[in-house]
Amino acid sequence: RIFGHERANSKGLNMNIAHFSRPFFADLARFQTQQWQAGPLIGGELRRSGEAHSVKNPFDTREPVGEVYFTSDAELEEALQRAKEAFPAWNATPVAERAAALEKLADSLEANMAELIALCTREAGKGLQDGIDEVREAVDFCRYYAVQARHMMAKGTVLPGPTGELNELFLEGRGTFLCISPWNFPLAIFLGQVVAALVTGNTVLAKPAEQTNLVALRATQLAHQAGIPADVLQLLPGPGRELGPKLTSDERVTGVCFTGSTATAKAINRSLAAREGAIAPLVAETGGQNAMVVDSTSLPEQVITDVVHSAFQSAGQRCSALRVLYVQADVSERVITLLKGAMAELRVGDPAYHHTDVGPVIDATAQSKLLAHIERISAEGQLLAQAPLDERCQHGHFVAPTAVQIDHIGQLEQEHFGPILHVIRYQADQLDAVIEEINSTGFGLTLGVHSRNESQALRIARSVKAGNAYINRNQIGAVVGVQPFGGQGLSGTGPKAGGPHYLTRFVTEKTISNNI
Ligand code: SER
Repeated sequence: RIFGHERANSKGLNMNIAHFSRPFFADLARFQTQQWQAGPLIGGELRRSGEAHSVKNPFDTREPVGEVYFTSDAELEEALQRAKEAFPAWNATPVAERAAALEKLADSLEANMAELIALCTREAGKGLQDGIDEVREAVDFCRYYAVQARHMMAKGTVLPGPTGELNELFLEGRGTFLCISPWNFPLAIFLGQVVAALVTGNTVLAKPAEQTNLVALRATQLAHQAGIPADVLQLLPGPGRELGPKLTSDERVTGVCFTGSTATAKAINRSLAAREGAIAPLVAETGGQNAMVVDSTSLPEQVITDVVHSAFQSAGQRCSALRVLYVQADVSERVITLLKGAMAELRVGDPAYHHTDVGPVIDATAQSKLLAHIERISAEGQLLAQAPLDERCQHGHFVAPTAVQIDHIGQLEQEHFGPILHVIRYQADQLDAVIEEINSTGFGLTLGVHSRNESQALRIARSVKAGNAYINRNQIGAVVGVQPFGGQGLSGTGPKAGGPHYLTRFVTEKTISNNI
C-alpha cells in the first residue's frame, strides 16, 4: 500500500506544451527582478539584527538578488530553547496532523512554483529544468514521508509471541534535529531533511548553506503557513564554520541530519561525541567519486547522451554526478570522438533560459578551485574536449564543461564538484582491476554501467560499492520512493533519502510489554 495508491509522484511541468508553459512563464517573469530578504526565523519572526550580506546572481554577479542577516549568539540561544520547549507538544501531536501539514506544504510548493524556481535560478544559478525538478522532488519528499509516517507511527506495532503479554513497539520523535543542508539542492534537500524530522515528531533547527538562504526562508515560511508551528521549525542562516560547532556541541540538539562534505560530516561526528549527555545520531549524505563503466557492447550514441547528462547537468554540481568515465579501449576512440562533438554543441550561459544546457557554478571559490584543477590535470594529462563559453558568461562564475584523460582514479586526490569529466581507457581483461580501482576510493555513491551484455552489466553493478547503480541510462536524478538515494563508506551513513527506511533514523523506539 505504501508504494501504491496513496501517493503519486509530482508530474512537474511539461514545458513543451504551451497550455502549461505559457502561464508558467508569465508567472516566472514577475520574479525576475524581485529582491528577497532572509534572516533568522525564530518564533515565527524574521530577525534583522547585525550586518546585512548581499546576495548576487552567480550568472551575473552585478545583479543583486537580495540580502541576508546572519544569526547572532543571542538568537541562537533563543532558537535552541524554543525548539526544546516546543518538542513535547509537537511529539504528542497525532501523526495524522503532522502528515497533513506536509501534504498541505506540497500543494503550496506547487502553487508557488514560479517564485521558488526563480529563486533557484537567481540565487543558486540552477537551470530552469533543474528548478522544476527541485520543486518536484521537494513535493515528492513531503508526500512520501507523510504516507510513510502515517504507516509507521499512527499506532504501535503488535508483536505476537510466546510471552502471553501484549507487546507493542511505538515510534516517537527524538527531540530537536539540526538539519544542515547544501546549496546544490537548496529546496529539495533542504526540505527533504526538514520534513523527515518534522513528520516524525521532532522540532527542527534548519541551517541552510550560506549561499542559499533566500530560497530556504521562502520554503520555511510556506511550511509555517501549511501548519508547522513557529517554534517547531526555525531557520538559522549564517556561516557553517561558526554556527555549526556552537549547535552540535549543545545538548539541546538531539540529532543531526547533514548533507555536504565527508570532512564536515566527520567533524560533526567528533563534536557530537565530545559533548556530555545523551549520544546523538548523525544522518550524513556526503560526497562521491562516481564512475561509469562503458564496455565494448554498449551503444555509443546512448552512452554519449547519458555521459553528457550525468557529468554536466546542473554544471556537474550534484553529488550523484559522473566524475570518472571508464571506456573499454576497443570503443574508446569512437566514444571520445562522439563526446567531443556533443560537448562542442553544449550551450553554456544564463540558467534562466530553457535552451541553456549548463549554467554557472555556485561562487568564485568553487570556480577558482575547478579552474585550477583543470589547469593542473591538463598539464599532466590530456585535455580531450572543452565546451565553448560565450561572452555572456564573463560576469558570472563559469567553468567550461571539460573532459580530460587520466590514467588512474587515484590521481584524483578529492572530489571535483563541477563540470569536469575524467576519462580512463581500459583493456577488456582489466575489468576486475577497474572494479577494484573504483572501490579503492572508499566512496560509494553512484555508478553508471553501459553494456548490452546483461550478465556483465549486473556483475559490475553488484561488485562496485555504490548506493545507486544505473544500467544503460544516466546516473543522476534519483526519483523519490522509486530510487531511494544515498551512499556508503565515505559517501554517507545511509539509509536512503526517499526510501522506506529513512524515517527510522529520526525516531526512538519504545517497546511496551503489557501484562495487565
Ligand atoms: N538526489 C540527487 C540525484 O540523484 C543528488 O543529490 O541526482
